[in-house]
Amino acid sequence: MTHFLDIHTTDASDLRSIIDNGIAMKQARAGKTKGALDADLPLAGHMVALIFEKPSTRTRVSFDVGVRQMGGQTMVLSGADMQLGHGETIADTARVLSRYVDLIMIRTFEEATLLEMAEYASVPVINGLTNRTHPCQIMADVMTFEEHNGPIKGKKVVWSGDGNNVFASFAHAAKQFEFDLVFTGPEPLDPEPALDGLYTIERNPDAAVAGADLVVTDTWVSMHDPQSARERRHNQLRGYQVNDELMSHAKDDALFMHCLPAHRDDEATSSVMDGPHSVIFDEAENRLHAQKAIMRHCLGV
Ligand code: CP
Ligand code: NVA
Repeated sequence: MTHFLDIHTTDASDLRSIIDNGIAMKQARAGKTKGALDADLPLAGHMVALIFEKPSTRTRVSFDVGVRQMGGQTMVLSGADMQLGHGETIADTARVLSRYVDLIMIRTFEEATLLEMAEYASVPVINGLTNRTHPCQIMADVMTFEEHNGPIKGKKVVWSGDGNNVFASFAHAAKQFEFDLVFTGPEPLDPEPALDGLYTIERNPDAAVAGADLVVTDTWVSMHDPQSARERRHNQLRGYQVNDELMSHAKDDALFMHCLPAHRDDEATSSVMDGPHSVIFDEAENRLHAQKAIMRHCLGV
């Protein structure tokens, strides 16, 4: 069973193949309409369940479109509308769904939910974001970096802001793809200790960004964070906003990334998001291509 649960639990050689296949599949579709079928229809005859226990725009649409382009079929399920949201166990849900579908993608809260789904499913399970990680996003981000600026190996990537789930997958990727990752943010919002050793900390954002090849940020308040923390987080993170002044410390050809959705002029200014360094919409597009390659990896097709 080939699940895609996290970047650190997937072989580096498989991660490399996924990126390369994503780029090749993207190139093969050049000039086609979004709904056009891929030539080889690798998911023909396959049914995919997409389960969401949290909101989503990119993950929902990119997985759905990706399956259809490859000739498969999808069902998009809201966790709240399933018996899962009303007391049925994850293990029973996994065993039942495995009788109907060939692949399960789930976006959920606790990582334990994802792991239990994977343990009891007899079909591959893909992590579409948990409170702890967001591996599909970072596969799209590595693909986007390499399309624009070549191999990410040995490059300097700087994360400015909250040490959250998206950062965690960047930390896992730093080891697997061999790039240097610097975290700059306030100490109370440091990444979880399990990630120690995968990145370095520089509290001064200007010093952190000096010579960066890539600057990344994300929302200051994630979906699993209590809204009551909003004001405190804004006060803690204001000094880590990605603005033109901060970007001026990076390399001239540095890229700026944000997984989106963004709160414009909080974690990043519109001048950066819409400026010459920004590749935020390429990242969003590449969710589609990278995830198609992830699904093929999981299904062995
Ligand atoms: N970046 C991302 O996962 O976006 P959605 O929450 O819209 O899926
Ligand atoms: N850190 C954000 C990412 C959203 C795609 C969250 O978990 O809400």
